[in-house]
Amino acid sequence: MSTNTNEETDGFESSQSVPVGVKLGSTRTVLRYPDTTGQTQTIRTLTCLATYEDAITGDERVLFGEQAAAEYPDRVEFMLRSGLPEDDERTELARRYFDELVETNGVPQDSTVVYAIPTIDNEAGLRNLSEVIENSAIGTVEMRSYPESLCSAIPALGDGVEAVDEVFVAVNMGSTNLEACAYRRGEQLLPFSTGSVTGNDVDRRIVNNVEEETQGRVHVDLTTAREYKEEHGDFDDFQPFSDVVQQPGGGSHEFTIEDSVMDALNWYLDEAVDRVANEFLPDFANEFMKPYQMALSNPVVVTGGMACLPGLTDEFERRLSAELDREISVVAPPEPDTAAAEGAMRIAERLTGD
Ligand SMILES: Nc1ncnc2c1ncn2[C@@H]1O[C@H](COP(=O)(O)OP(=O)(O)OP(=O)(O)O)[C@@H](O)[C@H]1O
Ligand SMILES: [Mg+2]
Repeated sequence: MSTNTNEETDGFESSQSVPVGVKLGSTRTVLRYPDTTGQTQTIRTLTCLATYEDAITGDERVLFGEQAAAEYPDRVEFMLRSGLPEDDERTELARRYFDELVETNGVPQDSTVVYAIPTIDNEAGLRNLSEVIENSAIGTVEMRSYPESLCSAIPALGDGVEAVDEVFVAVNMGSTNLEACAYRRGEQLLPFSTGSVTGNDVDRRIVNNVEEETQGRVHVDLTTAREYKEEHGDFDDFQPFSDVVQQPGGGSHEFTIEDSVMDALNWYLDEAVDRVANEFLPDFANEFMKPYQMALSNPVVVTGGMACLPGLTDEFERRLSAELDREISVVAPPEPDTAAAEGAMRIAERLTGD
């Protein structure tokens, strides 16, 4: 028996499945999993790729993520720009991107993969997204998908997977969609989503606002607008900031942004409150009176990348309470931009029996 100990231990270890949480998003992709020392790894990159021709061999080469966006702003492809892989071409690009991401980072293949999916009424797009992940090299032990806003709510409501046993409302603030949904022990009640109140809309508004605020002197691109929003947007304590553009005829022009960013963000938050308070919640109250009361006596969870904005949670709480004329409490996960992958990883841990 004693001579076998090592072998048995090895056998035991190799049959263990690594829990991996995946969120393949339209702006960024996030993976979370424990490495061999048990330390949780986070991979977080822009969901994009650019191809170029090798200057020596003439072969087609591919760059991914931040590097692609920085070096090839002229032709970088965000293949999930609209939220999901819409067609075969985009599915193929997403597959290349995801396979490369998994391979370069050495994500364990003997794994239990849980991936977050948006709550959108787009069957073909969701099927394509699943195909990309299900056909990748990882997740040989098991693969499952769960709604993104449920995954993201998990780290907001406890250290384990408490959210799965609760009745609560989640509002997911993403790049391409605003989603609202009630969860009853993991079951989705009345999922609502709209493509007209989004992080991307904020970026577009910032572009227009900057043009107006600078009397037409400055036109920023969408990437710059997104960076202004992510770096300077703040519902608690916004500080005006300056930037410099090169003039076409030479020289540079420095300008200061006072209102462009927060005007766009205030528009966004008002619209989000309006949709939740006047479209989603009334339907929920009508169809599920008791669960509605239960859910609103618990905190509403805001999730998605936009929840990273400082002060957004408190301001959403204030405006939603005012709109509904009752006290609502609102919480967000500690790291909204990686929360979906974290929650997915915790579900995967549960599935592997940890
Ligand atoms: N630190 C940050 N501060 C402010 N905004 C952020 C931050 N990080 C991400 N965002 C914004 O959040 C949005 C992305 O959110 P998320 O990652 O939840 O979207 P997604 O799941 O890819 O999109 P969707 O589900 O809508 O298709 C983008 O508009 C992005 O600019
Ligand atoms: Mg999303």
